[in-house]
Parts: sequence; C-alpha cells; structure tokens
Amino acid sequence: MSDVTRDISTTESHLQPCRPHHHGELPCNKDEEDEERRHFHQVCNSYQQYATFHQVTEQGVNHRRGRLLSSMNAVVEDGGPTVESILQKSLSQHQMKKNNELFCQATIRNQYFLDNVLKHCGAMTSQEVLRDRNEVEAFEVEWTTEDQISKIDSVLKSIYRDWSIEGREERSVVYDKLLGALDKYLPIRGNDDAVMNNSTDDDFNNYNDRGPPKNNPPRVAVPGSGLGRLAFEIYAKGYSSQGSDFSLPMLLASDFILNGCSGTDTGSHRKFAISPWIHETKNVKSLQDRCRTVVVPDVVAAVEPSDDGELAPDFTMLAGEFLSLYSHFLPGNRCVDGEFQADSVEKFNAVVCSFFIDTAPSLPHYLITIYHMLENGGLFVSIGPLMWHWSGHGAVLPDDLANGSMNETSNVQGDFINAKHKQRTEHLDQRYLQSVDFTWEETRALIVNCGFEILEEEFDIRTRYTSDAMSMKKVDYDCVFFVARKIA
Ligand SMILES: C[S@@+](CC[C@H](N)C(=O)[O-])C[C@H]1O[C@@H](n2cnc3c(N)ncnc32)[C@H](O)[C@@H]1O
Repeated sequence: MSDVTRDISTTESHLQPCRPHHHGELPCNKDEEDEERRHFHQVCNSYQQYATFHQVTEQGVNHRRGRLLSSMNAVVEDGGPTVESILQKSLSQHQMKKNNELFCQATIRNQYFLDNVLKHCGAMTSQEVLRDRNEVEAFEVEWTTEDQISKIDSVLKSIYRDWSIEGREERSVVYDKLLGALDKYLPIRGNDDAVMNNSTDDDFNNYNDRGPPKNNPPRVAVPGSGLGRLAFEIYAKGYSSQGSDFSLPMLLASDFILNGCSGTDTGSHRKFAISPWIHETKNVKSLQDRCRTVVVPDVVAAVEPSDDGELAPDFTMLAGEFLSLYSHFLPGNRCVDGEFQADSVEKFNAVVCSFFIDTAPSLPHYLITIYHMLENGGLFVSIGPLMWHWSGHGAVLPDDLANGSMNETSNVQGDFINAKHKQRTEHLDQRYLQSVDFTWEETRALIVNCGFEILEEEFDIRTRYTSDAMSMKKVDYDCVFFVARKIA
C-alpha cells in the first residue's frame, strides 16, 4: 500500500496509534504522544492476552458447571434423575476434556493470527510477553478488560466479513451496489474485472497480475472502512482509494492483511485459519459451530507501489476520527497566515460509505464535511441502516425538566432541562448527548439541504453484518442505498 506508512505501518510509525488528527499529522505535544502510546499499548495488550482471556473465561464456565453439580446435589428425588446424573450423562469427563481441547485449539489458532498482526506492527507477540513474564521476576501483568477483548472479537468477525470466502455473500450485497454506482457515474475506462463476486483460488494467485488501470484515476474516499476490503476493491477497480477508520484494533489487522499477507518479503502469499465465533455462547447449536474456521485472506491484497507518479491509482489508509481527519477541507480551516487557500487540498470525486453514516454523533457535521471533501459534481454514495451508534443514552426524564414543566425555562440559555440531567449524564461520552436519531426522511432532507441532488434511492436491500450463519439468531438489515451528487 503506497501511502499507508504515513499513518500506521512500518517501524517508526507503529507507535502512531489512532487518534483524531489531521491528514498525516503527527502528535504535536507530549500529552498527545503519551496518550497515543498508552492507547497503542492497551490495544496490543488485548491482542496479546486474547487466548488467555478466552481460556480463563471458559474455565470459569466449567467451574460453574462444577458448582451446579455440588450446589444442586441436595435436590435428589428417590429413583428419579438428579442434577448430577443428567449433567454427567450429557457430558462425560472424556467429552469435556475433548471439548476443552477443541476450544483451546481455536483460541490458539486466533492467537497465532493476532500474534502475526502484532509482529507486523513491531509489537511483542503473546509468546514474547509470556517469556518476559517467566524471566523477569517483578513482571507485573496489566490485565486487559472484557470490553477490550470484545473489540478483538469484533476484529475477527470483521475479518470474516471482509476477507473470507464465507463472508463474500454478506459483503457483496452492499459492496457491489457501491462499486456499481461508481462504475455507472464515475466510470474507469478499460475496467472489466468483477473481482469480488467470483474470487477463487486462481484470483488469489492472479489478482495482482491484472493490476489497476493506469489513467489519471478519480479519487475516492471510504470513511469508516473497517477491515479495508471495500477501499481495496475500489482501488482494484482503478480508482485512487483512501480508506480511513478510528479503531486501532481494526487498523492494525487491516494493515496486516493489506501489507503483511502478500508475501512480498517472503515470496509467498500467507493465509490463516481463524475461528471468528468462539466468543459466542448464546444461540449456539454446537461447540463445533463455535470453533469452526474460515481461511483469510481470500485474495492477495498486495498493492505494489506505483512508479507512474501522480497519474497512477493510489491506495492509502488513514488512522483517525473522520471529522478531524478531513477538517482541513472545511473552508474556515483552509487559511494559512490569514490567507484563504482555495486550492490547498485536492478534493475527492466520490465519498463512498458502507454502514457508516449512522456512526455520526452529529449527522449534519458528517454531511458538511463530505460536501467540502467533494469536487463540484462529486458523488456521495452510501448504503446501510440507520442504527445510530450514539443513540440510547442520556434521555431526558420527567424529573429533569426545569420546574417540572417543558414550558418553563431554566437558567441555561432557555434550556428546559435542569441540572439533574447534567449530573445524571456527566459520566457519559458527550457524543451520546449530542446524538439525534434521524429518520430516513429527515436524513434525506439534510442531504438535500446540504447541497446534494439525489440521483438514486433504493430501500430494503436485505443484508447481514458480521453475522454467524450457524447461529440461532440472525439479524437482517433492510438497508437504504442512495447516490447523491454535489450540486455545483
Ligand atoms: C459498522 S462499521 C462498517 C465497516 C465497513 N465500512 C463495512 O461495511 O464493513 C463502522 C466503521 O466505522 C468506524 N468509525 C465509526 N465512527 C467513526 C469516526 N467518527 N471516524 C472514523 N471511523 C469511524 C468504526 O471503527 C468501524 O470500523
């Protein structure tokens, strides 16, 4: 990947974890640097402790089984089934041992993949940490948390979605719509390969040989790009593609898949078997379902640096919060020494979003940023549900009303909410308090009012998201897809 080094890959910049910052900007003060280091360390910690964490959690479950046996032994009916008899008959010691082995192997399989990600980003692997723990007497383990581990679980599910053959059905429903819109409204000449739908082992080997067309490519931004497949597919079609995301656990894994699996160093393409569902304990039919494997990546995602200068397609991934990363496109921020720099940033021809716009704590801010990122006539293409990510916390309750009435005003600039609400909610991330759940009608009106014309609008595109096909619970999203054009 030609430009990613600026943000997350290669030796030195490994210590540049994800934080809100401007395009390519490095941390500018010591506090920020310390905060970045702390965050990077915390994420590496959870990568390193993944297998241990899950194994201990599973031991806890086994312990509960044991307690169930002893605590319920008193409930013995003459001649009838006992808790002990039915539990032990359903799971013999031998079977339990086999199950534990199966589960342990799955955690080790995942840890092996995660260790490769860690190695790629220059951090210590789980084994190296273990060795230090054994060798250094006063080694203090800083244990990760359930919350942090759940982020690694999400990374593994996202890898399944983006980079396994099994995830193709789920992802292609949405990615195909977006790629189709680019093809229709921003076509690249000489582009005739539909890679994603038909990827086979041959594609795995030949993907790179075809290479992207080289003809002054349009520039496409893919905010909230997760594990990077969509951004990569866009690049593979011949566009200059810029993915971005603010999740460091995701970025480390996408960097490894995009830069570490191509085997440019070793001359071979690397594939890994992972078990993305081991953390699922509900709605599971069997332990085998939980521990089953998928092989990733399903294609070689190597991006060769181009020697054609500015005209060749370019692929970059940025680490950071969307509004911060692209804030330099806003007119107010394009002043240097008091002078407005109209042409100081190269704008995009398209902004393509998959399951992204509903991550906005404030949709208007996202829309205005997208508007300014685009050239006149540029495309804003999106697909996804409206599952507002910052929704559901900090609701105003009757007791929060100033003087118990919505008509009364409090002392806070005509706000009808009293100090109780503030007290009750001050522990929350302020983004929860900012968030508004817009309907599609409202969202559409905001897009139009921002300066876009809607070219296409389609509802009920049914798909799943990082969904376990073997689970007894599956969630369908009926997505809205739209193509909008920035009015000149
Ligand atoms: C629901 S996921 C979608 C991922 C990918 N586009 C896909 O379709 O699989 C949303 C992604 O946006 C990222 N994200 C959410 N809010 C963001 C923000 N404000 N800035 C940057 N990335 C953000 C998350 O880390 C996550 O990877």
